[in-house]
Amino acid sequence: MRHDHVITSKQLSRSDIETVLDRAAEIRDDPTAVADRHAGALLGLLFFEPSTRTKMSFETAMKRLGGDVVDMGSVESSSVKKGETLADTVRVIEGYADALVLRHPKQGAATMASEFVDVPLLNAGDGAGQHPTQTLLDLYTIRENAGLEDLTIGIMGDLKYGRTVHSLAYALSNFDAHQHFISPESLRLPREVVYDLHQEQERAQVREHESLEEILPSLDVLYVTRIQRERFPDETEYQKIAGEYQIGVDTLEAASDDLTVMHPLPRVDEIAPEVDETEHAAYFEQAHNGVPVRMALLDLLLGDEGGEDDE
Ligand code: NCD
Repeated sequence: MRHDHVITSKQLSRSDIETVLDRAAEIRDDPTAVADRHAGALLGLLFFEPSTRTKMSFETAMKRLGGDVVDMGSVESSSVKKGETLADTVRVIEGYADALVLRHPKQGAATMASEFVDVPLLNAGDGAGQHPTQTLLDLYTIRENAGLEDLTIGIMGDLKYGRTVHSLAYALSNFDAHQHFISPESLRLPREVVYDLHQEQERAQVREHESLEEILPSLDVLYVTRIQRERFPDETEYQKIAGEYQIGVDTLEAASDDLTVMHPLPRVDEIAPEVDETEHAAYFEQAHNGVPVRMALLDLLLGDEGGEDDE
């Protein structure tokens, strides 16, 4: 996958995914082995939307590979404020960096931007579209906690606007997972995603539910998401739904002892803090996995450029 853009999880085959996860596991076991591997390499960060984990874990990953970052900074302080187009911005920054990470509020922005650059461009979230690098760390966490074979997963919350959900659902179809989608009617998965999942998975194992109760006992993983308030066209619609689909310690009484609870974070009130103390909680581990997984991905994309001892 060297020199590829990473725009959507649809482009990732099972073997691509396994390559990244295996490399991430190696790196996590011995991070010092890659400490200077990309010395001198620079990663360009272009975040047009807020980010804590994604931006900081990319930055950490690049620095732990011996490289560094150049950061556009906030939209407010960049030339975007003067009306510069995204196409011009990426064309300029590709001249400064060996790879680019882009987060943008507009769905499709990463696809468009990638057409203007030759260095690898990684989509770190495009509106309600996709977030494929989050998916890789989600899959890593699932593999570690529950395994990817014969998986039964519940994905709950804002399935309409949640880009982490869209990316995860496509990627899981490579593993023939049983996917249960739990949401209010108004936040169901976009119909085109459901359609694609049925097309991609020979024996599609995709079910939609409005209640968690009926399905919870059968789940290996419960992936909870935040209601994407910033994407609601109407605040009153958000208010109607906010506060629904919350998980507390009492909710989990009906779950299997081995249930793994995940969340891409940030959470608002979807998971009560008491759940953090249970064996189920894997969301902080999940966020930490962002570093070895993004190290692995950057290493594979950058190849031996600026590095040593490439195999
Ligand atoms: C997610 C995102 O930005 O899509 N955050 C993240 O990258 N971990 C999820 C969210 O904002 O709810």
